[in-house]
Amino acid sequence: MCGIVGSIHHQNVVPTLLQGLSNIEYRGYDSAGISVLTPRGIKTLKRSGKLEHLRNLLDSQQLSGFCGIGHTRWATHGEPNERNAHPHSNDQVSVVHNGIIENHSQLRQWLQAEGFSFNSQTDTEVIPHLIAYYLARGYSPQKSLNAALANLKGSFALGVLFDQDQQHIYAARRGSPLVLGFGEGNVSLGSDAMALNINDDRILYLEEGDQARISLNSIKLVDNNGKAVQRKQRKNEIRHEHCSKQNHRFYMHKEILQQPDTIAQTLNHTQQQLTELVLDFSKISRLNIIACGTSYYAAMVAKYWFEQQAGLCVDIDTASEFRYRGAPLDQNSLTIVISQSGETADTLAALKHVRTQGCKTLAIVNVIASSIAREAHFSLQTQAGPEIGVASTKAFTAQLSTLACIVLKAAKERQLLDADNSASLMDELQQLPTQIQQVIAIEPELQALGESLSDSRDAYFIGRGCSFPIAMEGALKLKEISYIHAEGFSAGELKHGPIALIEENTPVFVIAPADAWLDKTLSNMQEVSARSGRCIMLGDQHSLTTLNIEQCQAPPEVVLLPCSSALTSPILYVVALQLIAYYAALSKGSDVDQPRNLAKSVTVE
Ligand code: G6P
Repeated sequence: MCGIVGSIHHQNVVPTLLQGLSNIEYRGYDSAGISVLTPRGIKTLKRSGKLEHLRNLLDSQQLSGFCGIGHTRWATHGEPNERNAHPHSNDQVSVVHNGIIENHSQLRQWLQAEGFSFNSQTDTEVIPHLIAYYLARGYSPQKSLNAALANLKGSFALGVLFDQDQQHIYAARRGSPLVLGFGEGNVSLGSDAMALNINDDRILYLEEGDQARISLNSIKLVDNNGKAVQRKQRKNEIRHEHCSKQNHRFYMHKEILQQPDTIAQTLNHTQQQLTELVLDFSKISRLNIIACGTSYYAAMVAKYWFEQQAGLCVDIDTASEFRYRGAPLDQNSLTIVISQSGETADTLAALKHVRTQGCKTLAIVNVIASSIAREAHFSLQTQAGPEIGVASTKAFTAQLSTLACIVLKAAKERQLLDADNSASLMDELQQLPTQIQQVIAIEPELQALGESLSDSRDAYFIGRGCSFPIAMEGALKLKEISYIHAEGFSAGELKHGPIALIEENTPVFVIAPADAWLDKTLSNMQEVSARSGRCIMLGDQHSLTTLNIEQCQAPPEVVLLPCSSALTSPILYVVALQLIAYYAALSKGSDVDQPRNLAKSVTVE
């Protein structure tokens, strides 16, 4: 949701800024821009569209400096054009911003009355002008920034350059993440660790309300109250070789194929982490699970698991709904928040709300030291590694793997699972990497299926039980990268309305592993078949045997997957759906890694 970079170096920082922006382009790709300090003032170049447009511009124009900031935008206020691209500057100040300034209209009116003219439609442009207003009154850069910040309502992470201070980048965070990086002869700034200089071996996360003034030789940090503070520096764990596409055309493809490894690593790591987790599920009365997007579908799957295996009542919510719903919370409940990035604004706000109610919280994140991980009482890190494709794949199956391990712990502590049964369920989970290899082995079949959707206007996905959320996730994957209209339904609900949408040959994916719901799911498939829909059944050998082909108007197309249980089928089946969506999108010529209008990490409400 907009990415910020900043760099100070002994050498020209422009290549470093471009590299940083390229690493976080998944935060938004509506426009990109950079500003550098030069002896002739602040120089800014920006372009609408993807980063490559800015790169082309830089090829034709000289720009260099030792201190600079950059931005990649996901538009909120103002259309995604060059005028609205960041940095936003005047003669004295240049600003990159992630977040939303809620009182920008009032500030804009006031500044216009004071003689400032505006070039863009953004909320951000009030910031450089507000700072310039105080500079004109003789304030120092730091004091001008402080005075400006005191006038801002909303959320922000800022990087600021001052023409009169060639040594420093100023930074401030309120509600949006910011991290500093330190390496040999350079210091950098970023919205997340991926944005930092490749050589930074130490990183430091700014805390909520912190401000920083950084130069090559010094860092000055102050907290919310303006008091000087020290923050812990930690080792930079990002391995940049993980961030290349290798031989894959898109990151999404690489990330789908990595799942046997990422799941194996996550299962092992989670089991270790759980031995240190001081949480006794026998004392927990109820669970709330909160997340957004694909992470919310992981919550949906977990609801079935916790209820069936651990006998726990579970409420699930999308974070944007939960935070304003005023749900009364049971003091003995545990709230689990799930987030790949650990920075999603709605999820973070929901977590803070739960904490203010005095209830225990557990975060499942992929990015260690993210805001959500630090805010929760307990946190577990999935081992998906950096996920760069905007559509989440390996992070989702890693979340499910972690949740499955927690479910087993909860079931044991609640005396609903003995050691033998727990070990055999864990064995089933440990089979997943091999089984996922078997799904990947039928990639050509899934490719053909995906490509066959390219002329479809709509596609539907149905499933029951744990397969219902997988139907939702299958539909989400397809719509977000191929732009084919896709919806997921619980198979039993189909007859209560959605069946009206079925026309001749409308593709309907039926998620039908051999589980307790199979007979009923197959009946729902017959209802689609009777209305001439195109049924594509994902099932295993048992599902196939159960299917009564004679009753079908036309036999369904079948994708045969390995046998699974309620604990493993969601993880297995979603991989097939990811590949189908990927190839549908490819056949439609989509930019799979950067689908239109989306961003990977949504740090605004
Ligand atoms: C965005 C992404 C989704 C992601 C959701 C939640 O919408 O495009 O892929 O599932 O945010 O993100 P989180 O990082 O909290 O899991």
